[in-house]
Amino acid sequence: MSSQAALLADRYRLESRIAAGGMATVWLARDEVLARSVAVKLLHPHLAGGPSFLHRFKQEAIAAARLSHPRIVSIFDTGSSTSSDEECAQPFIVMEYCSGGTLASLLGDEGPLEPDRALAVASDICDALSHAHRFGIVHRDVKPANILLTGERELKVADFGIAKAAFETTDVTRTGSILGSVAYISPEQVEGAEPDQRSDIYAVGILLYELLAGRPPFPGENHLSVAMAHVHEQPPSLRGFRAQIPRRTEQVVMKALSKDPDERFSSAEDMRLALGESSGATALISPFSPPHSPTTATRVHPRDAAEQPRAQTASQTRNLVPIFVVVAAAVLLGLVLPRIFDGPQKPDPGPAASGNGSADARSPILEITEPRDFDPLGDEEEHSEDVSAVVDGNPGTYWTTESYEDGLGKAGVGLLFDLGRTRAVKAAVITSDTPGMTVELRAADEPPADSATMTPVGAPAGAEEVTRLGAGGRRARYWLVWITDLPDALNSAHIAEVRFLGA
Ligand SMILES: Nc1ncnc2c1ncn2[C@@H]1O[C@H](COP(=O)(O)OP(=O)(O)OP(=O)(O)O)[C@@H](O)[C@H]1O
Ligand SMILES: [Mg+2]
Repeated sequence: MSSQAALLADRYRLESRIAAGGMATVWLARDEVLARSVAVKLLHPHLAGGPSFLHRFKQEAIAAARLSHPRIVSIFDTGSSTSSDEECAQPFIVMEYCSGGTLASLLGDEGPLEPDRALAVASDICDALSHAHRFGIVHRDVKPANILLTGERELKVADFGIAKAAFETTDVTRTGSILGSVAYISPEQVEGAEPDQRSDIYAVGILLYELLAGRPPFPGENHLSVAMAHVHEQPPSLRGFRAQIPRRTEQVVMKALSKDPDERFSSAEDMRLALGESSGATALISPFSPPHSPTTATRVHPRDAAEQPRAQTASQTRNLVPIFVVVAAAVLLGLVLPRIFDGPQKPDPGPAASGNGSADARSPILEITEPRDFDPLGDEEEHSEDVSAVVDGNPGTYWTTESYEDGLGKAGVGLLFDLGRTRAVKAAVITSDTPGMTVELRAADEPPADSATMTPVGAPAGAEEVTRLGAGGRRARYWLVWITDLPDALNSAHIAEVRFLGA
């Protein structure tokens, strides 16, 4: 920042850089007119040129400036840095400066909060949201990095930045990008629905879970697996992390985390009341004032809270996942997931074939009791040690065929799935990093000796990164994902994940 640019609007002197987020850099600045410290959020120059970002940024100021509440960061001013080159003008927002850091940094430094304090934090956030919701404003990006602490350790919700007034219809919502951070995004947003106040309630549920457990319910290893978990997986028991968490508190969190928005609290105020009732205390304490002492608090380090080997700590997760999901969601949620959710990409043969994405997203994922490699026309063995990778929920790990020098040289090789009992299957969804192989689906009622005893279901398809093979509600217990051709110029084919959706 040049010294000339360091004085914005002839008034705000930028003193030191606090941090840079996905779309902006935040500065501690001096308001030379009112002689007070303020925070200035300055849009990244490389984004300033884009009309949709510019629009979003201005929307942030307009939406948030309407709100005046002790638990919401006040917006004081907005404008653009002057520049001889109009294209390079950087929009900025001037807001209340909160010197106590963020809930994200607190969680990273100190680990999970004791239950009463965590409830008090969530209660304050609900209080702020309740006020905003009354104005028709949905936050859309509730996460620990957007919960700031003042010097007096009071909590304030920041960044109604990607919020929009729910009653307004603007281009912002029509960009196709999903706004928010993947760890806190609601199932309906993953499915592409417009978020409403119940989506904020879901995000508070995730945040409260993280405060209590030291990690979010769906840590995941990449955005895709986290997004899919929001839609399809149930959070692990909170009391499994810490037995001292009251049962009633767990129930409040789980209600907020209902997949169906109608089953959540109908308002942030209702959730706030339920939090108060679940605490067991006569009134919720103020979360951080008087300043809490680490010696009096019972804390569990995130490391100790990790349940599974691949679970990430809260701070690791923040580094990896919470992004302003314009680019990533466009890639993962806008391009990849719709291939799963937005209907068949391949011919869907059955009479009950779905043609609509949300319908798929609501289909249950059928349990696979046993996946195994299937090579009846070869040596009967096809990397059996890797098979579990296709059901581990992690698209980064995969099963591979053996290496074939000159094409498969046989009718096929694949993976056989036992669903435990006869199930009606709507579709199989296959994730692979070797697009171009040819796959087809086969079904049988008895354990098959070879592929010839199985009935082909639908036509063979050229696989993409995510391939949906429709099964049209066909009922069977044994299902074969049968690879009949390798991708051009590759000696093997990979399968990262396989899911069967119930009809
Ligand atoms: N009003 C404020 N007072 C003090 N610090 C602030 C203020 N607003 C933001 N910050 C700091 O600046 C950091 C970056 O904020 P910013 O909103 O740009 O990104 P983010 O919330 O971390 O992520 P995202 O890019 O997804 O919004 C925050 O994490 C916080 O540390
Ligand atoms: Mg922020």
